[in-house]
Amino acid sequence: MAARTTAAPLLLLLLLLAPPAARGFGIAPPPLASPASSSSSSTTSLASSAAAAFTEAGGSNVVDANRYNVDLDLAASLWTAKVQETNSNAREAGVPFLATSSKDYFVDDAGDVTVSRDGGMGLELLELAGGREDGFGITIVTAVTEGGNAAAAGILPGDSIASISVTTEQTREDGAQEVTRRSAGTECLDFDGTMAALADFPGEAPAVTLGLKRIRRWPKIKVRVEYPPIQCAEGADNHVDLVLDAGENLKRALQTRGIVMEDPDAPKCDYCGNKCNVSVGRAGMHLLSPMSTTEEKIMKRNPDLRLSCKTTVGHNMQEGELTVRVNVRQWNKER
Ligand code: FES
Repeated sequence: MAARTTAAPLLLLLLLLAPPAARGFGIAPPPLASPASSSSSSTTSLASSAAAAFTEAGGSNVVDANRYNVDLDLAASLWTAKVQETNSNAREAGVPFLATSSKDYFVDDAGDVTVSRDGGMGLELLELAGGREDGFGITIVTAVTEGGNAAAAGILPGDSIASISVTTEQTREDGAQEVTRRSAGTECLDFDGTMAALADFPGEAPAVTLGLKRIRRWPKIKVRVEYPPIQCAEGADNHVDLVLDAGENLKRALQTRGIVMEDPDAPKCDYCGNKCNVSVGRAGMHLLSPMSTTEEKIMKRNPDLRLSCKTTVGHNMQEGELTVRVNVRQWNKER
């Protein structure tokens, strides 16, 4: 998906030039009417939040996504907005969406949380960017009241509210229950727009469902790359320490960081004529993407070897450390 940061200069300039200090918009709690009854309200705990973990089919290697959360100050410094030039399945062209100003962090869909309105939601909002006539801006949560409804639902300072929805039930004359759901998108709205959306729901609704966006740190993999001693100068270190991003292709990541994969005795790869075998320390194997059926067959007799070009690191957004030996057929050779 192509996103651009400069092709809509007016939009972005205005979004980024907001004077947060000049516009103190903190509110606690926001002006939502208390419901007549709270008995049917519900909250979603942080631990059970739908998007609190990166999972994969089968449920192995589950990673708690919240381990990559950042604090309020960092989040506030990273939030920005982008627009996309052309329509895609995920996004309409020209409509701003939340992003970060650093590639070491990403905007995660932190899921929907249901927040009781009984006694107020207990959160404070701040307009990081705004002041535009069209109502676009960046509004984030700056505080949640300890023990309050927003805190119980798992909302964190630094989050931005991207959508709001409310479900109400009514008993019709014929006795049937009528369920109505109203929702509004609030991604990249200024403070007033966000507040208007929060206040625009029926006062009797006991709870509101908020779709959250959250900035998270991109998981890193520390990789020690070891060369066969025979390929190193006498007395020189035979290892290089690298930091890779979760999701990177192992072969490309190594080569773009200057690792030379040259093994004169290795047979050429059946797929592409290259040589990409690497030996991976057992302790770090779980950090790699699972083998395809073909790779499994090829490596049946060599469980410590991987085809680096078919491997990604930090599988399922894991982070950790691993050791990789390159040019594996040179390791048994004497100088
Ligand atoms: S370089 Fe051909 S399979 Fe890796």
